[in-house]
Amino acid sequence: MDVYLDNHSTTPCDPRVLEAMLPWFTAQPGNAASRSHKWGYAARTATEQARGQLAERLGCSPKELVFTSGATEADNLAVLGVLRANRARGNHLVTVATEHKAVLDAAKHATTEGFEVTVLAPEPDGTVDPAAVEAALTDRTVLVSVMWANNEVGTLQPIERIVEVCHARDVWVHTDAAQALSTCALDVRAVPVDLMSLSAHKAYGPKGVGALYVRRGRPRIAVEPLQYGGGHERGMRSGTLPVPLIVGFGACAALFDPSEVERVRGLRDTLRDGLLAVGGVHVNGSAHRLAGNLNVAIEGVEAEALMLGCRDIAMSSGSACTSESLEPSYVLRAMGLDRDRAASSLRFGVGRFNTEAEIAYAVEKLTAKIAELRSMAHLYE
Ligand SMILES: Cc1ncc(COP(=O)(O)O)c(C=O)c1O
Repeated sequence: MDVYLDNHSTTPCDPRVLEAMLPWFTAQPGNAASRSHKWGYAARTATEQARGQLAERLGCSPKELVFTSGATEADNLAVLGVLRANRARGNHLVTVATEHKAVLDAAKHATTEGFEVTVLAPEPDGTVDPAAVEAALTDRTVLVSVMWANNEVGTLQPIERIVEVCHARDVWVHTDAAQALSTCALDVRAVPVDLMSLSAHKAYGPKGVGALYVRRGRPRIAVEPLQYGGGHERGMRSGTLPVPLIVGFGACAALFDPSEVERVRGLRDTLRDGLLAVGGVHVNGSAHRLAGNLNVAIEGVEAEALMLGCRDIAMSSGSACTSESLEPSYVLRAMGLDRDRAASSLRFGVGRFNTEAEIAYAVEKLTAKIAELRSMAHLYE
């Protein structure tokens, strides 16, 4: 049986999303920026409807959304675009060692342009302490970037508290919510972040489209574009809108169903309990985590060896998602795990299309393989 348990890496496109997208590849060829004919008008109507669907999901105005190619671009636009456009406000960024590379490497690049960056260490369970964020703020801090949920250990960050401490000091908050879109209520009225990155392919939408939410109001958050051209997306992101992808993004946002979250959580708990029953298996990270996320260290087993032994189960060692190196996950290392424990850790992402039978099969197969690898290691010793 093939079992896909790598939904943090990417999710299958929901067939209902695909169906919504299809006409926009063929029968409806219009460019959403073409004002002179009905094809262009139809495309524009479709992208604006999708913008409305996403805005509804986030509790924001459609005018606050900028479509991008994904969360990588949205993170780069948030970090570099805000720093570059607001030099008069300061030159300092605060972020965390467990952020996605799209934030960390953009931050690293910013240092070559003269910006100062503070990278905070998380608590051992992956959580960022709002008091540590507060202590890192200076009079020159422009932006704090802390993800909503981590892509490896699923840790849900105390974003609401972080926003409070930052807003008290007039500092804007960006959050990468790429992993949160599939299973978290995201409401920018309840948790008033200033910028939020999103990606459709992490939430049963197509690959290649994402968005940056940029709060409107006073003072205006200026964002310097990363690319120049036709001035699309209010000048923040020039380039012809990918109409089919945007229609798919809107459809996937509209399909969010809180009751599904509990089903996913139940399957994840079954997987977790099944693996813990093996013995010598430890959960990495906090109890306060994404519903579909499980990250475990398995004593006496190399994660890579277990993955090779279970090729019909899609899972990942922390590193696989951001690089192709075999180095243990920098996220787990930043949480204080030693190399051995990090190298014996596996990430599972349960999603919408997984079934109880698949989870039962995965537990059975992994249990047998773990026993086999442990007995081989024993013989070798
Ligand atoms: C937290 C997080 N941010 C950003 C990204 C990058 O997203 P995209 O593939 O849409 O560029 C990912 C996915 O790898 C992610 O998990």
